[in-house]
Amino acid sequence: MSEFRTRFAGIGACLPDRILTNDELSSMVDTSDSWIRERTGIRQRHLAAEGETTSDLAERAARRALDQAGLTPDDVDLIIVATTTPDFTFPSVASMIQGRLGITRGAAFDVQAVCTGFIYALTTADNFLARGQAKCALVIGAETMSRILDWTDRTTCVLFGDGAGAMVLTAEPPADEGIEDRGVLATYLRSDGRYKDLLHVDGGPSSTGTVGHLRMAGNQVFRHAVTNIAESMSTLATQAGVDIADINWFVPHQANQRILEGVARKLSIPTEKVISTVADHGNTSAASVPLAFDRAMQDGRIKSGDLVLMEALGGGFTWGAALLRV
Ligand code: UT7
Repeated sequence: MSEFRTRFAGIGACLPDRILTNDELSSMVDTSDSWIRERTGIRQRHLAAEGETTSDLAERAARRALDQAGLTPDDVDLIIVATTTPDFTFPSVASMIQGRLGITRGAAFDVQAVCTGFIYALTTADNFLARGQAKCALVIGAETMSRILDWTDRTTCVLFGDGAGAMVLTAEPPADEGIEDRGVLATYLRSDGRYKDLLHVDGGPSSTGTVGHLRMAGNQVFRHAVTNIAESMSTLATQAGVDIADINWFVPHQANQRILEGVARKLSIPTEKVISTVADHGNTSAASVPLAFDRAMQDGRIKSGDLVLMEALGGGFTWGAALLRV
C-alpha cells in the first residue's frame, strides 16, 4: 500500500514556430502530400529553429505546466526529462532545466526510452512520489527529432517533428477527502531488446563518436506497435480493475493515425475517445503524449475527474501505458 497518491496538477506544451508542410517535403525528397496523409495521417510538423534546443522547448513547456498547476519552481523537488535528443551527451536536459528554473534542491535526471519515454518518466516519478521521496515532480517529454533525421531518407524524414510537453505531479496522502481514486492509478512498462535493429539510431558517443541518424523498418514496427500497444492497454486496465469502456479518453503516442485506429478497433474503442494530434505534430517521440494531453485539456475535452489512458511504443523496443484520473 502506497503512503502517497500521485496527483495530476498541471500540463503545459511548447511547439516551435516553424511549420514544415508535406508539400515542402515533396520538394526535398521523392514523396507527396497524398502519400504522407494516406499512410500516416500527418499533414505538417513543427521544427526547431537553428540554435533552438530540446532544453529551450522543455523549459517553456515546464513553465506553462507550473503556471497551470498554480505552482512555482520553488515547489519542485524532482525533474525527470524523457528525451532521445538531449542538447549534450551530458549534462542531462533535466539538470539544465533545474538550473534554468533556479531550483537548487531535489533531483534531476533524464530517462531514455525513445517514444515511450514519457510513460517511463511518469512511472518513475510516480514511484518517487508514492514512496515519499519527492513532493512535486516535473515530468517532461522533449525532443528535437529533426536533428537526428536523415533528410534524404523519405521513409523516415516525413514522419517526425519537434516539441515538448510537461506534466506536474504532486504527492498527496490518499486518505484526504475525495482524492482516493484520483491521480496515477496504474502504470505498465515493457521492453524487448531483441528488436533493437528495427528502430534505432546508427551513431552514438561510444560507438561512432557521432550523433547518428534514425533508421526504421517501418512496416515491421507497425505490426509490433498495434499488437503490443493493445496488449499493454488491456493488461493495465485489468490490473487497475477498470473496464476499457469506462475510460473517458485515450491519449496515445502519435506515430501514425492508422496505428491509433488499428488499436481502437482491436479494443472496440470509439474513435471519438482517441485524442489525435498526429496530423499537426507528426511523431514527436517522447513529447507526443504530453502534447496531445495538453491539447485535449486546452480545448476542454479532458476535464477534472476524467479517466485517461496514455500509451506508447518506441525503439528498444520499449512500450507501456499509464492510467490517470485527472
Ligand atoms: O514512434 C515509434 C514507433 N514508430 C511507428 O510506430 C512507425 C510505424 N510504421 C509506420 O507508421 C509505417 O510503417 C510507415 C508510415 C513508416 C510506412 O507505411 P507503410 O504503409 O508501412 O509503407 P511501407 O514501408 O511498406 O512502404 C510502402 C511503399 C514502399 O515502396 P515499394 O517498395 O512498395 O515500391 C516505400 O518505398 O511506400 C514507399 N515509401 C514512400 N513513398 C512515398 C516509403 N516512404 C515513402 C514516402 N513517400 N515518404
